[in-house]
Amino acid sequence: MAEVAVTAPLPGPALDNLRACHEVRVHSGATMLEAEEVAEWAADADALVTLLANPVTSSVMERCPSLRVIANCAAGFDNIDCAEAQRRGIWVTNTPDVLTETTADLTWALILTVTRRVIEADAFLRAGDFKGWELDLMVGAGLQGRTLGIIGFGRIGRAVAKRAPAFGMRVMATPSSQSTEGFENVTFGDVETLVASCDVLSLHCPLNDRTRGLLGEERLRRMRRGAFLINTARGPVLDEAALVRALEDGHLGGVGLDVFAQEPEVHPGLLCRKDAVLLPHIGSATREARSEMAELAARNVLAVLAGEVPPSVVIQGRQ
Ligand code: GLV
Repeated sequence: MAEVAVTAPLPGPALDNLRACHEVRVHSGATMLEAEEVAEWAADADALVTLLANPVTSSVMERCPSLRVIANCAAGFDNIDCAEAQRRGIWVTNTPDVLTETTADLTWALILTVTRRVIEADAFLRAGDFKGWELDLMVGAGLQGRTLGIIGFGRIGRAVAKRAPAFGMRVMATPSSQSTEGFENVTFGDVETLVASCDVLSLHCPLNDRTRGLLGEERLRRMRRGAFLINTARGPVLDEAALVRALEDGHLGGVGLDVFAQEPEVHPGLLCRKDAVLLPHIGSATREARSEMAELAARNVLAVLAGEVPPSVVIQGRQ
């Protein structure tokens, strides 16, 4: 029996599946463990199941010498020092696919909520300000015939694109190395082209050295006046201070954010804005998706501990 350290209780049958074969320790209480706490929790573990809020740094790996696999319960893996894991022969796995449709749905929820001012209108009504139907009450922006830009045409970006025809939107996306079969209606362009041509720009790229700060002051200024920006990817892809300025002077029409640069903190300039819809990183938060994510993370652990190749490999470790 190997020892599996899990940084938070998992939904669904995942923990039972792990317990059927191994010794499992589940951390309860706060899930935002710092690297130091992750290292303590996983000190003697052969496998570590983490959330995206748990940094797994080189020092964590140094202090957990038995680790064979780090199974992140998320599609992203920017919380893990993958280069160090590779150097040490530790497997890194993630949970893609099972959250694709759920995250695409939430992206559209943000697009619709921001452009149609849903949160603002709800607050207006609850404040007792609704005095009767008016032609110019809470007028928003229509989507029909507008262009949706998708930066990052991977699984989630594609699922977002697939929904666009239902809203009458044209789609432009950044080029992808994967097949574009089934996306004949999508036109491709670089980030500069998308920024300058889209009415709604949605971010779906992973966070890495190439995408950190991808949308800074200059690119935000090159967006169309009144355009909308949606981020369900990772906060640091966007310069939040520059974004606040672009909202304050009316350059952008609004933003929908599910992710932030310093989670759980949110830039104070965003908190006071009615044209910003702000969500607490709930892109994959359906019962179904979260349970499947946990199950997949467990399958990844079980495979590595059985000497097999896990279903969703980020970094291939030693067998
Ligand atoms: C969520 O942000 C994930 O990467 O799964």
